[in-house]
Amino acid sequence: MAGITEHVPVMYQEALDLLAVKPGEVYVDATLGGAGHTRGILERGGLVIGLDQDPEAVARAQTLGLPGLKVFQRNFRHLREVLAEAGIEQVAGILADLGVSSFHLEDPKRGFSYHKEGPLDMRMGLEGPTAMEVVNTLPLEALYRILRDLGEEKQAHRIAKAIVEARKKAPIRTTTQLAEVVQRAVGFRKAGHPARKTFQALRMYVNDELGALEDFLHQAKAALKPGGRLVVITFHSLEDRLVKRFLKESGLRVLTKKPLTPSPEEVAQNPRARSAKLRAGEKEAA
Ligand SMILES: C[S@@+](CC[C@H](N)C(=O)[O-])C[C@H]1O[C@@H](n2cnc3c(N)ncnc32)[C@H](O)[C@@H]1O
Repeated sequence: MAGITEHVPVMYQEALDLLAVKPGEVYVDATLGGAGHTRGILERGGLVIGLDQDPEAVARAQTLGLPGLKVFQRNFRHLREVLAEAGIEQVAGILADLGVSSFHLEDPKRGFSYHKEGPLDMRMGLEGPTAMEVVNTLPLEALYRILRDLGEEKQAHRIAKAIVEARKKAPIRTTTQLAEVVQRAVGFRKAGHPARKTFQALRMYVNDELGALEDFLHQAKAALKPGGRLVVITFHSLEDRLVKRFLKESGLRVLTKKPLTPSPEEVAQNPRARSAKLRAGEKEAA
């Protein structure tokens, strides 16, 4: 359909190769999204427990009617409970392809994109405080730390101050209003939109993305069979650092000494892949 791009799975071949799918075994796709990676697992004869915290992603996946796929609308930080509900103790592999999907970025009403006017929402799971509540209520110091730590934004203080000044006049309600506040505060930038890091930081905060990842990784190790594999694709240096440290400290055998990154061809075809890093580990055989 015009204007709607399909979700293209990032590092598809690399992820599937490292999962080393065996027919008849059960795999977890912790970030089902458009089910791109899941289709690959199913095509190789695997069975999939698919999680997504986003009700819209879950509804879309269910309409696909893919045999061998069981879908759960749940945050992956609750992996243990999902497996218990599914009556499964351990699985042969777990994949997580973090962050938002192109469905999120392209739907103005979800509030993820500074290019499209929409309510400042940014919740993947449609629960808890929205980005609108965050920018209009948090104290200056808290906003500053979010932008500095999660956005790695060099002008975090200037932007936080501009947000606090702007909201004194009227609440900041939409994506483009926030983008304008940031742009007025820092001016134009050569590398990317001036509000890019601010939006990324708020999204990570609203969805507690680092907290969820940390909870998930610990449960993932326990959920793997001996010889089972964990494959994680990140898009942010803090996430990558967390995964790297976890693999090192968890006792999983590290399968990627250096993280894999997408080929130049993939990045040319799918700019969303640009910052992807893939790491994988294997649980020791019993
Ligand atoms: C990058 S997309 C995954 C795309 C998928 N691999 C594909 O090939 O279509 C990430 C998806 O994971 C979901 N997600 C992100 N964090 C999550 C979490 N903590 N728990 C569950 N789902 C999450 C998002 O809602 C989004 O649909």
